[in-house]
Amino acid sequence: MTKINIAIDGYSSTGKSTVARRLAKELGYLYVDTGAMYRAVALFALRNNLLDEEGELDGPALVDALPQISLRFVPSDKPGVFEIALNGESVEQHIRNLEVSSIVSPVAAIGEVRELLVRQQQQMGVEKGVVMDGRDIGTVVFPDAELKIFMTASAEKRTRRRLEELQGKGQEVTYEEVYNNIVERDRIDSSRAVGPLRKAEDALAYDNDNLTLEEQYQLIYQEVLRRT
Ligand code: C5P
Repeated sequence: MTKINIAIDGYSSTGKSTVARRLAKELGYLYVDTGAMYRAVALFALRNNLLDEEGELDGPALVDALPQISLRFVPSDKPGVFEIALNGESVEQHIRNLEVSSIVSPVAAIGEVRELLVRQQQQMGVEKGVVMDGRDIGTVVFPDAELKIFMTASAEKRTRRRLEELQGKGQEVTYEEVYNNIVERDRIDSSRAVGPLRKAEDALAYDNDNLTLEEQYQLIYQEVLRRT
């Protein structure tokens, strides 16, 4: 089978990573969660208190600190599953909470941050055989990806999905908090100047309000088979 790169973009909590992870496992490809990379940079900013008096991100301070940040994917306890390490420490357990979610979009809107992370992401795809999910994979990271997917769903459906996930991890969050965070991240991610969230012209679009994840997976898998 020819190896290809698969770009999966879309709004937050549409189930991108579920589909991407399953595809990678089925195909024996590397799965890369680029959101985890931006979240790890956001965690660095929080831990180092790179915030101004109003508690907003201090962008210039973060840009100055970028040389101190090293990101790598390291093997997790589960075979074949990798997780993000920030300066040698696996931080998977610390990046999926509302505190990080509330600062990650401003972090990801900084051109210097994107330049650094996009370069690393492109390196991972040089030899093909990668399923990568994010916001700008089909438009910026792999504009030549053989298969591009763009996933959408209503904010309500995405909120319910994310709420279940967070509450399942024992986090105390309300529907309203999660909904507001999702809508605010959509707004910042779609309107930023560098690498905004948008569908690549040649991406196949799937609306999860009308499809189950299983139906969607099967449709995407057929598209993979047609290209390999
Ligand atoms: O995918 P996830 O929801 O974990 O991503 C967290 C945030 O990281 C997004 O809201 C977005 O601001 C940023 N991101 C990005 N570009 C990517 C992946 C994620 O800007 N390729």
